[in-house]
Amino acid sequence: MEKDQLPLLGTDYVEFYVGNAKQSALYYQTAFGFELVAYRGLETGSKDVCSYVLQQGKIRLLLTTALIENHPVADHVKKHGDGVKTLALWVDDAVYSYNTAIARGAKSAFEPQTLSDENGEVKIAGICTYGETVHTFVERKNYNGPFMPGFMAKKSLMEVKPIGLLYVDHCVGNVGWGQMNEWVEFYQKVMGFNLLITFDDKDISTEYTALMSKVVSNGNGYVKFPINEPAEGKKKSQIEEYIDFYAGAGVQHIAIATHDIISTVGQLRKNGVDFLYVPDNYYEDVLDRVGHIDEDLNELKKLNILIDRDEDGYLLQIFTKPVQDRPTVFYEIIQRKGAKSFGKGNFKALFESIEREQELRGTL
Ligand code: FE2
Repeated sequence: MEKDQLPLLGTDYVEFYVGNAKQSALYYQTAFGFELVAYRGLETGSKDVCSYVLQQGKIRLLLTTALIENHPVADHVKKHGDGVKTLALWVDDAVYSYNTAIARGAKSAFEPQTLSDENGEVKIAGICTYGETVHTFVERKNYNGPFMPGFMAKKSLMEVKPIGLLYVDHCVGNVGWGQMNEWVEFYQKVMGFNLLITFDDKDISTEYTALMSKVVSNGNGYVKFPINEPAEGKKKSQIEEYIDFYAGAGVQHIAIATHDIISTVGQLRKNGVDFLYVPDNYYEDVLDRVGHIDEDLNELKKLNILIDRDEDGYLLQIFTKPVQDRPTVFYEIIQRKGAKSFGKGNFKALFESIEREQELRGTL
């Protein structure tokens, strides 16, 4: 196998630009069981932005809002609503990663910087990807503070109950008509990713709507980015609806892994998170399609969890509804029991479910 030219250790953090980070932080603590670990704002000398860092398992969310009117974070929220700005990648050498990506044709988002405080130093550098989304390379081997210089440790004010969320499994981008291959090539040529899977509009269509998707992965498989684009159907593709409301390309969903989806989704539902609905008849013949599973089918049906199988095993998955008012970003909760794929067998049932939501929103 070829040497990995741009080794990535994993996802470092996912940053959302939001209208009100204080309230978003409470949502992730109460609904998703994330622990507050760090903060920056006026009290730490940050005069123009305020951020909360939330953690569960290996997942770190950074929620950032603007404190002043004329600021790129405020402009981003005005245009896109709450959404993902940064998919940060954990690396051993941020300057090397940045220089390698730039030399292969990446556009710079910001040049390498070294941030330091009494806990050591963090090096960061950013490149642009689809829409206004950025990949920040984060080198933190010489740092042992709660997040990064500029942030102070801050704990949740309430008792947080973690719900078993482990790590980011994959992050999906939606891009405009005809742009999927361009971005797949970007990940292949600039980032040295491999093309894992291709889904054409025949794989991903219902009677009414369609999309196309390709999945790229880095060398060690820790970072996987499916890229979707809309396809022609009788009605409006969910990808087009996203692009209309997000005002461009952006992150569509973040898939988070759990070892016990029944427990995790049970907690999420108790905490008020709403999920896409798949009709009961999905469960009538699902075992004919996927074969034996360890879980009690009735439990899965009660929670509306979906099942799919590939040659390596099976997986259990479920999708939340969008987590802000615009029908844009949502989450997937996934438990892999061997399967390395993305739930192709559930696409039809899922997209029919999304169509029902689009119908209610008047955007189908
Ligand atoms: Fe997914």
